[in-house]
Amino acid sequence: DHLELPLIPYYFGWFLTRVSAKQLDQTGEHFLEQLAERREFLEEFVKYIDSDAKENFNLQDYFQKKPSMLHCTTKFCNFGQEPNCETYIKTKDIEEQLSKAFHLKITDLFITPRTVGARVVLTEKQLCLWPTDENESNDKEGMKLPLGSRSHITLACAPHIKAVQTGRDLLEFLQLEACKAQPSFHTPVEGGELLCYDEGRWILHLSKHIEVKSIFSGSYH
Ligand code: A2P
Repeated sequence: DHLELPLIPYYFGWFLTRVSAKQLDQTGEHFLEQLAERREFLEEFVKYIDSDAKENFNLQDYFQKKPSMLHCTTKFCNFGQEPNCETYIKTKDIEEQLSKAFHLKITDLFITPRTVGARVVLTEKQLCLWPTDENESNDKEGMKLPLGSRSHITLACAPHIKAVQTGRDLLEFLQLEACKAQPSFHTPVEGGELLCYDEGRWILHLSKHIEVKSIFSGSYH
């Protein structure tokens, strides 16, 4: 027997398969190891973290808070408490694509004193699953970016930071790049080009994008 109305999940998104999640988690760990070996990174980054974490700072320990399943959120519903959940669920594309498999394209890895994330660049078809009420700006600069710009996978958060911050951090990078801000430091590294935009904001533009496999679904936990 079916319920008359669909259950509204905590959020919708693309959930990485076990193999892809393991691979991406390792890529994230490698990214942190690579950074932790760079004196210019540590010196700059440590300036922007809470004083209690500064002593004997260890990057891996600082970013211990990881999502239980790696995913790229599309619509955050909070079980229906957020606006426009019903409209989203009833969209034909959403209904049709639920439980379908997708490749997600990752073009950048980034880190800030708050979060570590992977930028996801969506295809046209994937953009159809992105909420249309989304405002792709952040409070800081307020510049509007194309729909879907915020799409990302949270890899880890600093203590007391919620995962929702990762998307805000990504928007900051994209806004800096959209207004052609000059990075304060950049260097070629293994895997791509590493740039620093001050305030502990570092981004690795991958020379070869990473592809992960995922399933479009709702999370009810
Ligand atoms: P993200 O997509 O950046 O990882 P939580 O971990 O706080 O329970 O949140 C569950 C998921 O929903 C996370 O993936 C999180 O962020 C996302 N999320 C939480 N709050 C929001 C929000 N207000 N807007 C968009 N996504 C959110």
